[in-house]
Amino acid sequence: MLLGRSRLSRETTAASRAAYGAGVIAADVRAFVRANLPPPPARVLEVGAGEGDLAEALRIAGYDVVAIDPEPRGDGVRAVALHELDEPAGSFDAAVAVVSLHHVEPLEASCARLAELVRPGATLLVDELDVGMYDERAAAWWLQQRGALGAGPDHTPETMVADVRRHLHPLQRIAEALARGFEAGPPLRGPYLYRWYLNESLRPAEEDLIARGALPAVGARVVARRR
Ligand SMILES: C[S@@+](CC[C@H](N)C(=O)[O-])C[C@H]1O[C@@H](n2cnc3c(N)ncnc32)[C@H](O)[C@@H]1O
Repeated sequence: MLLGRSRLSRETTAASRAAYGAGVIAADVRAFVRANLPPPPARVLEVGAGEGDLAEALRIAGYDVVAIDPEPRGDGVRAVALHELDEPAGSFDAAVAVVSLHHVEPLEASCARLAELVRPGATLLVDELDVGMYDERAAAWWLQQRGALGAGPDHTPETMVADVRRHLHPLQRIAEALARGFEAGPPLRGPYLYRWYLNESLRPAEEDLIARGALPAVGARVVARRR
């Protein structure tokens, strides 16, 4: 997997937990999800739930959440890949995928399975990093912030960009895989780098650079509806 998880995860789990507070996912992610989900009670599938923090927050809010991840890192997350999830067709009212679809394999079969699992009219919320927007300016800024947190200078912007592009599905390919089952709005672009093993307090700095045209907006959010 992208250098993001295999090496960085060991090195930075503590740092990102310190950034977000133990067991807490970035506030704007929680807000995006909560604001666009149907109100509880509703049955929600979370794809690529990782540590399970978002799923837990949604359960506390009254949602019936099935959280899945082939490599779960917390309680309440079922160890299964999306294309292998055995649940009744049309049994979810909504699905959420936070920076997970870019990792999912096989992408097309997984998105087809997702479309089977949710009912017609169900909401799908996708929060992504758009690999197509990620360039050397973004990588250089990210490496600079990582350096300020004490991480070693073991990558260059060029190797970061090559790594990201080699390992992650571009947003366009994800959109195409989803299009067969979902009607999606245009991506809403914004910051993302601040929450990639950095610190939520860096969000205004990233937004300011995006506003001045000095950084690409590598984050993208999509609200889609099952056809
Ligand atoms: C960058 S992490 C994001 C985790 C979590 N959503 C978060 O925001 O912290 C991507 C997650 O997608 C998971 N993933 C990879 N392939 C998957 C698949 N086929 N089905 C479901 N999840 C998958 C990975 O194991 C990983 O935990």
